[in-house]
Parts: sequence; structure tokens; C-alpha cells
Amino acid sequence: MKTVISLDDLTSARTALTGTVGLVPTMGYLHEGHLSLIRLAKVECESVVVSIFVNPTQFGANEDLSKYPRDLERDLRLIEPLGVDLVWIPTPGIMYPTGYQTWVEVDAITHPLEGSVRPTHFKGVATIVAKLFNAVQPHKAYFGQKDGQQAAVIRQMTRDLNFPVDVVVCPTVREVDGLAMSSRNKYLEGADRKAATVLFHALSAAKTAYEGGERKADVLRGKMKEVLASEPRAMVQYVSCADYDSLEELDLIQGKTLLSMAVILGKTRLIDNFVLG
Ligand code: PAF
Repeated sequence: MKTVISLDDLTSARTALTGTVGLVPTMGYLHEGHLSLIRLAKVECESVVVSIFVNPTQFGANEDLSKYPRDLERDLRLIEPLGVDLVWIPTPGIMYPTGYQTWVEVDAITHPLEGSVRPTHFKGVATIVAKLFNAVQPHKAYFGQKDGQQAAVIRQMTRDLNFPVDVVVCPTVREVDGLAMSSRNKYLEGADRKAATVLFHALSAAKTAYEGGERKADVLRGKMKEVLASEPRAMVQYVSCADYDSLEELDLIQGKTLLSMAVILGKTRLIDNFVLG
């Protein structure tokens, strides 16, 4: 496993890779969700590149970038046995050198849900993913369904900008009690950790209604809100039942649908989603 930092070293190492190249972009502090992306990339691609970069531009002014969990040694230890060919760990100065001024902005689908609470977030995500695609030139790139809107934004950007990259979205990996794995779960303590399963239960209640034949989006939103309201520690930011691709809120469910929510528990903000249909 080769580890590089500079863009020149990345370019030389990338040139030496053969066959289909799969990229797994990460911000580090890896968990089983990331490892599942790497394992799938290993199955589907001849060469696998993992990037580790805590992207400052996707953090809002009120979000503490300096507190984002980091442990590079542990990350490399977790990746090593998976047969990754190349790990790129650029610095902020490499990705955004002095005088940097070019941004990728995806329009309508970045406005609702996460975008309504984190208005600059997807500009940072789309820009860094475009830069990673340009630098690594992967044939395939792997993202988790856990960040459902991010996956939709990246699919849209990849189509709109004609990146010759196959975007692969992999299922959310969960703890045994249903909590979706996330690097931010580290901050959940005591009663908040216990209460965090309420997102999974709320999504499950809506899914059960859907499986029982319910197609009114408002009824499914109501089911999710009802379960969330039963947890006094949970402060709900949004609950949504939207079209899977456009993320427009639905009246009636007809095709692939994204149920999603954002909830604050103590000092931790959690998001989760289920895909229906
Ligand atoms: O999902 C993440 O970890 C990040 O948003 C990504 C896609 C690596 C871009 O920084």
C-alpha cells in the first residue's frame, strides 16, 4: 500500500495503476461503513485508491472543523489489510492553495434538507469531489447511502459535468441496534447514545406503513414525527419524504423515494435515511 501526499506523487502513483481504478473518498476516522465501500471497490476494480482529507470548505462557520475526529495511524491500520493500492492524504494547502477561487455549485437539489440547515455545505462537497475526480481519474467512485443527499448531489454533478465516473452508492452500515455508523457517533454519550436509535425506529415505522400499502407521503412523515416526538432528548431539524433523485417533497409515493431526517441529540447532529421502492 503506497501512501502519498503531494499532487505530483499522486499523479506518478496513479499512472502506475492498472485496469479499472476505484476511488473511495473519505474524511478519515474510518468505520465499518467506509470499510464496506473499500471492500466493494476491491471486488469491482483492479486498483483501489482511498483519499483521506477533512475538507474544510464543507464545514459551516458555526461547525467546528477543528473538533472533527482524526486518527490517521488508526485509519491506515484499518485500510492496510484490505489490499488498497494507494492512499492519498493531501493537505488543505494542496487542495486549496493561496489564491484558490473556483467552486462547483449544484443547484436545486442542494437547497432542501441538509442544504436548508447547512447552506454552504454542498458547495464544499461538490468542489472537493470534482477535484478528487480530476486528480485521481477513477473509473468508479464509492459513496455511502448514509449521506443520501450527498449521494444525489454527486450523481447530479457527475452527470452535469460529464465526469466519466461510475458513481456507486452502497447501503448504510448500522450498529446492532440500528444506529447508522458515522464518524460523529463518537460524540454520542450515555443517554444520547441510547436515544440515537430513535432515528432508525422512526424510519422503520414509516417503512412498515409503506410496506402495508400506505402511499401518502404526509402519512409517512407523520409516522416518523410521531416516533421522534416520543424521544424527549431528540430535537428534530427536518423530516422528509422526497423523490430519490430530485429530492422534491412528495404528495403521493410512486417511484423510488428517500425518507430522511436530521435530529440533534445533545451536542451531536445525526442524519439517517431509508430508500423505498
Ligand atoms: O462523505 C464524506 O466523507 C465527505 O463528504 C466526502 C465525500 C469525502 C467529501 O469530503
